[in-house]
Amino acid sequence: MKFFIDTANLEQIKEAQALGILDGVTTNPSLMAKEGITGEANIINHYKAICEEVDGHVSAEVISTDFEGMVKEGEVLASLNPQIVVKLPMIADGVKACKYFSDKGIKTNVTLVFSAGQALLAAKAGATYVSPFIGRLDDISTDGLNLISEIRLIYDNYMYDTQILAASVRHTMHIIDCAKIGADVMTGPLSAITGLLKHPLTDSGLAKFLADYQKGH
Ligand code: E4P
Repeated sequence: MKFFIDTANLEQIKEAQALGILDGVTTNPSLMAKEGITGEANIINHYKAICEEVDGHVSAEVISTDFEGMVKEGEVLASLNPQIVVKLPMIADGVKACKYFSDKGIKTNVTLVFSAGQALLAAKAGATYVSPFIGRLDDISTDGLNLISEIRLIYDNYMYDTQILAASVRHTMHIIDCAKIGADVMTGPLSAITGLLKHPLTDSGLAKFLADYQKGH
């Protein structure tokens, strides 16, 4: 399973990259705003800076909600760096724009996906990635992981190339469960990624090894 980090924070991106396990980055307008990145020029420069820090795909989300606007914005974003994936909302014009970009060989990520039917449309439009938001479904007492299972089944039935990018991952168990189900990618915060490192038996075992080594010196 590929690991993407879901942030626009350059320090966190660098930290995940330094671990050697990072495959890409996802951002959204809220994450950009959280870092105080506002205004078209600053946002564009920030995408360029993110691309310099990672080797993999970087999702950059359009703000427009109409087909023409999405195409215009998406073309600018895609021209910034070959790593850029144009992130489009799961609305009718987003599906049309996804088809437009996939026909041109431009990578896409269809976002804000909350149902298997939406994921099916994204695959038919040729999306590179589909982003089902599992945490936000859990927030409204709906099983987000079940959606990942449904999409996995549908995509495998028809051998769709679209990669399932489990999004809105909130904690380590989400990551482990997504890996069990067979999500192609997960995107989550640094805390969820580094949380996978932790086990008290690792810490106590290491402490004992080091203490025993010291006894012999
Ligand atoms: C996905 O690409 C989104 O940026 C993200 O995963 C949303 O997560 P949230 O529900 O924690 O805001």
